[in-house]
Amino acid sequence: MSYLSTDQVEHHFHDVVIVGAGGAGLRCALQLAEEGYRVAVVTKVLPTRSHTVAAQGGMNAALGNVTSDHWHWHMYDTIKGSDYLGDQDAIEYMCRAAPQLVKELEHQGVPFSRLENGKIYQRPFGGQSRELGEGGQASRTCAAADRTGHAILHTMYQQNLKVGTHFYEEFFALDLIMEDGVCQGVMAWDIAQGAYHLFQAKAVILATGGAGRIFQTTTNAHICTGDGGALTLDAGLSVEDMEFFQFHPTGIAHVGPLITEAVRGEGGYLINAEGERFMERYAPTAKDLASRDVVSRAIAIEIKEGRGCGSNKDYVLLKVDHLGAELILEKLPNIHELALRFAGVDCTQEPIPVQPTTHYTMGGVPTNRFGEVIDSKDGNHDLVVSGLYAIGEGACVSVHGANRLGGNSLLEIIVFGRACGNQVIEHLKQQPYHPQIDANCWQDGVARVNRWLKQKDASESIKISALRADMQKVMQTYFSVYRTHAMMSEGVQKLEALAQQMSNLKITDRNRIFNSELIEALELENLMDLARVTAAGALARQESRGAHARDDYPERDDTHWLKHTLASIKDDSVTLQYKPVRMQPMTVASFPPKKRVY
Ligand code: FUM
Repeated sequence: MSYLSTDQVEHHFHDVVIVGAGGAGLRCALQLAEEGYRVAVVTKVLPTRSHTVAAQGGMNAALGNVTSDHWHWHMYDTIKGSDYLGDQDAIEYMCRAAPQLVKELEHQGVPFSRLENGKIYQRPFGGQSRELGEGGQASRTCAAADRTGHAILHTMYQQNLKVGTHFYEEFFALDLIMEDGVCQGVMAWDIAQGAYHLFQAKAVILATGGAGRIFQTTTNAHICTGDGGALTLDAGLSVEDMEFFQFHPTGIAHVGPLITEAVRGEGGYLINAEGERFMERYAPTAKDLASRDVVSRAIAIEIKEGRGCGSNKDYVLLKVDHLGAELILEKLPNIHELALRFAGVDCTQEPIPVQPTTHYTMGGVPTNRFGEVIDSKDGNHDLVVSGLYAIGEGACVSVHGANRLGGNSLLEIIVFGRACGNQVIEHLKQQPYHPQIDANCWQDGVARVNRWLKQKDASESIKISALRADMQKVMQTYFSVYRTHAMMSEGVQKLEALAQQMSNLKITDRNRIFNSELIEALELENLMDLARVTAAGALARQESRGAHARDDYPERDDTHWLKHTLASIKDDSVTLQYKPVRMQPMTVASFPPKKRVY
């Protein structure tokens, strides 16, 4: 069939459609396909190029292979790390499931690094303690050198090939098919063929990853454009806690690529321009292995107070060479290569220039711990959207609250990928047939592409890349590690002005086949929505908590702000509401908020 100039729509039927082929999507697909369901994975890139591939340091689980450990300590650390904004039932579920799921991954073929005794290698990561309370440093992060995400993603992909998951590669999701509040499928654009596809399904799972590309400097791949969040907003639903963007302390200065926290886990440390090991002043016990929000804030202060390095005094140094070339090349080969390529530094000889860099989206599509998307209509925070699920970085369960601990991201995707798969299996048992679908349900998806392909003269228009760069600069300048009311109000104004320019944008390439300018335009629509809700949520939150640090409200305020933000876009303006944090775990006592010290 030729699609060269048609608006024809090819119609597919699957039990389940998963949008996104990172670790969460693939773990969920595996659970469902193993049960014999007809599962489609719709992904805008080849599965092994999904951003999970870039995860370096590892996956947390209280295996106790190196130090004593317990899932309850892991739970405590995660709640404390989240600055008490994490939902404690979901956190308990995740930390309890972790050891079993790491062993399952091992049996599925993930080539974890090994200890001398043959057990899985575990390294120390930030915010890990060895007792309930403030005990010593645990080694909880299971690693495959510093390429753990790569190892997990490839294993998940191979397992899915074995069980016959259907992959629709290089397909861009355009629109959720919603009928009377029930999700019935997804409209997508086949990037290679330039054609429309309607995926009708009894369950749709968003596993689309983070939105780090709303910022200028980020460890995130260009594909991390928050597509699932934007689809959710477009369906009239909310996203949760978007103001909490994690700045990883050690992105390579000025360019962004990640230098894993594992470097500090293996004994590396940060120094300022005076050669001082400054983390000793900010976190006397944990030092360089304090949680990421604490280390990023410390670096920002060092730079602000003139102790940064280089001619602009805008970065600090990560010292690694004392670990010796043998250890670096065995346990940290990837960062050795990254430092060489992106900073021109041989880290076996010299320190690596680093600065805080946007790394992780703590917020996302609100879900419960079964991956069901929550509507929160009329203040009912248990109301699920039938047929719609979200998992992974694009979702907000919320196990990370205001600040994620390193190593909990790979864990989350596996734990909730499986949990969601199990929940969908229950849903499918009640749903033997595809429900009747509206005959015109494809129209919004087609209109979204035609708005770009069929517009008039492009000669005088603003370029997609220019507007995107302006948006990223605004986010980087006004919503960075430290925020104030004055800065953020200015940022919101600038961002809203940029959003107004979206309607003047045009693309110059009107071809349907592999039109990358079209995809960038669609991605910019998504990014702009997510930047707007991020900015609005940040401006409204008058406290400092986790990754949201305000000079004008330096303290956490549990009386007024121990609550999740829900943001939606109605009549083209951002609307905010709030919902309580789930403080009650599943089986153990709650951890009430207390002062966080490392
Ligand atoms: O530093 C890192 O290796 C990142 C790990 C993570 O974000 O979990």
